[in-house]
Amino acid sequence: MRKNIIAGNWKMNTTLQEGLALAKGLNEALKDKTPKCDVIVGTPFTHLACVADAIDTGKIGIAAQNCADHEKGAYTGEVSAAMVASTGAKYVILGHSERRQYYGETAEILKTKVNLALANGLTPIFCIGEVLEEREAGKHFDVVDEQIKGSLFDLSAEDFSKIVIAYEPVWAIGTGKTATADQAQEIHAHIRQTIAGKYEQTIADNCSILYGGSMNAGNAKELVAKPDVDGGLIGGASLSVENFLPIIEAF
Ligand code: PGA
Repeated sequence: MRKNIIAGNWKMNTTLQEGLALAKGLNEALKDKTPKCDVIVGTPFTHLACVADAIDTGKIGIAAQNCADHEKGAYTGEVSAAMVASTGAKYVILGHSERRQYYGETAEILKTKVNLALANGLTPIFCIGEVLEEREAGKHFDVVDEQIKGSLFDLSAEDFSKIVIAYEPVWAIGTGKTATADQAQEIHAHIRQTIAGKYEQTIADNCSILYGGSMNAGNAKELVAKPDVDGGLIGGASLSVENFLPIIEAF
């Protein structure tokens, strides 16, 4: 059956020293605990290797927040999937709405990144989600379907089964305005149905679909109690152990 996952997305926050302290703090807090979900921290590129050295990676997985859309070579400033994998990171967040919006990442670019991530043994945490006008126009189901089809549906069933999906309504990210648990359940069930329509029902049933967007200690329990909500991708509330731990313990 599918895994429950709580993943932190630190975004462009923390210096190396602050990030290390945060990762070590989380490691310490989980030392004597057995979480009922997989725990992941998504750190800036600069922190990946040091964080991998400092924590029990058997207990806390590490994610990059992006990777390049080329394998290697003359792409100044880029970080390849192979480089990410060589740090000890096992996951890569791809298609975050901030990357789509501010850095022009298209479905085609993301398709390439997903393929490179998989080729290098990384698990993509693939983000999808609609903006407010699309939700208000009732287009959110179509938007997420297009995002999935545009970047993921050329994958073989075997490769698709390695993908984690994060549904993140853009209007809920960093706004303090969460989707209700019922709204999340409704669209997560829809996403699973879309996957089942393309691949087999078992592949859809085994796919972890996370919710993201202002998830916190106060609303996590209600969200993850929904049958199709398999965890969360957490931004702001992942930046302190105090706020992140109760979300992990929501399961
Ligand atoms: P947030 O961010 O929890 O701060 O809303 C979630 C995300 O962007 O992944």
